[in-house]
Amino acid sequence: MPANTALDAQAPPGAEVPPSEAVTPLIRGIAVLRQLTEAGGTLSPSALERATGLARSTVDRITATLARMGYVRLDGRDAVLAPRVMELGNAYLAALRLPALLDARADALADELDESVSLAVADRDGIRFIHQATRRRAMSLSFRIGDLLPAERTAPGPLFAAEWTEADWARWHTRRAADPQDRTFTAVPPREHPRTRATHATNAADAAGAVDGTDHANSAESADSADSADSADEVFVRQAARAAADGWALDDQLIEPGLVALAVPVRDPHTDRVACAASVVSHTSRHTAADLRDTLLPRLRAAVAEMEADLRDAPPPRPGPPPSGLATWTTASKHELGRDFIESLARGLTVLTAFGEGRSALTLTEVAKATGLARATARRALITYEYLGLVTAAPDRTFTLTPRVLSLGFAPLARTTLPRLAAPHLRALADRLNEPVSLAVLTGSGAGQEIQYTARATTARVLTVDITVGTRLPADATSLGRVLLADAPGSLPDPLTEVRARGYALVDEELESGLRAIAVPVRDRTGRAVAAVNVATHAARRSLEDCVTTVLPELAETAAHIQSDLGTASRFTAVPLV
Ligand code: PHB
Repeated sequence: MPANTALDAQAPPGAEVPPSEAVTPLIRGIAVLRQLTEAGGTLSPSALERATGLARSTVDRITATLARMGYVRLDGRDAVLAPRVMELGNAYLAALRLPALLDARADALADELDESVSLAVADRDGIRFIHQATRRRAMSLSFRIGDLLPAERTAPGPLFAAEWTEADWARWHTRRAADPQDRTFTAVPPREHPRTRATHATNAADAAGAVDGTDHANSAESADSADSADSADEVFVRQAARAAADGWALDDQLIEPGLVALAVPVRDPHTDRVACAASVVSHTSRHTAADLRDTLLPRLRAAVAEMEADLRDAPPPRPGPPPSGLATWTTASKHELGRDFIESLARGLTVLTAFGEGRSALTLTEVAKATGLARATARRALITYEYLGLVTAAPDRTFTLTPRVLSLGFAPLARTTLPRLAAPHLRALADRLNEPVSLAVLTGSGAGQEIQYTARATTARVLTVDITVGTRLPADATSLGRVLLADAPGSLPDPLTEVRARGYALVDEELESGLRAIAVPVRDRTGRAVAAVNVATHAARRSLEDCVTTVLPELAETAAHIQSDLGTASRFTAVPLV
């Protein structure tokens, strides 16, 4: 299957020609987002041209539009995925509701077992991660939320395949034949030569046989049978049947040597179908595959039983407010940017954000209402998404997002940190003010609390404050420390009460003669001040009044941008503060 044009790269097999009502600019914009995702988040314009088959001028207009939406950032000439794009994947994850209901159980299981635990859903003939509770280990690659893996090389795969229809199996065979080495699955190493792979499998089969006296294992079988792609595929067919009977499945180093996983299905209590799979993931230096099953299966099953109870007892979803003013916003942007803003792309993308918790199945009317788009516009966007496999239409005329929405920028940002989120905003402010800008967090406790600098954007001035990332200073002596201390629950000394009331801290030549600094807090989704951002200057450069009237509003705006990115990124992933 050629995958070198925007249309081909997006088309599900058998649907090469887009329906006549599909929105071409939307198809192209989605192709750009997917190529950026596959590339790990950054591409030059010429690399985007090559990857999508689009003309340079088209690529430029698409990236300008995505930049306006906050979905990409233009870094020099490169397009870089920006945190705001995660709102697309967030819409899917919120609508799905499984992360909100099950993440805490998966995290607790990972803590209990001291092994990584993940949740994955079926995505056609692949599996896609919707949660990762990862242990840091020296050895092992770990996947991100949004990564897509070929079903037959994973533990959850056989559990999902146990429910496949003939058409699903046919699609899988077609894909296997078209891509025998899994090159289209950029999250996994390409398949090794079948013989190499069979070596691991033989070990696994031996190990499993030694434990329970049989030679079955949900892993690839003997060296002989794995000799050709065809017989390797037969193995997966048997694994799926086995998984249906056993209620668990193993991945014995099917992705890479050393990586082993055990998965159990989490069933939807209302339909009894597999909603997602919970996997325990380890390394052969800790557990062989058979050992993983023998020692951890009971505990994994117990956790899954609790997950299923949680799904059964879940309160009805609470629909949040639909996004507002989107259509108005795109019109304003069109007026401002003119030809460089592709309104049909921006409008089409807003359709995805109409979905969310309690808004998982929407009619055309509901989508139009939520986005403020004309019905005809919303309808064409939905037709486009259905063609692209991002939305499915049910017989009751409602539309639902598919896991494929996570292929739009999510994974490359799923492992970001607060310093990385903040960096472009700090840079922009430092450039605007021509003053150094810093981000810091509070460390330690009690009287000896310190701040630690976690990100900085400096300027070319000769006289600047000599601080680097990692530097620690006493919290109570610095503007950064004071805004953070002022957020502490409980009673505060008077000066901090004042800082809290004002919302900023100004330190004037207290730490060092001539040094003037002003700081504001950066809050997480719960409202807690988790970091602070400041501008440092010299008394000779800016008066106190200038700090408050000129610097403070700019600083507050920067903090708001960082906070908004943190809020988007941390909705379904843990964003480390350091
Ligand atoms: C993972 O969560 O990283 C994982 C899960 C199942 C597999 C492989 C990896 O089969």
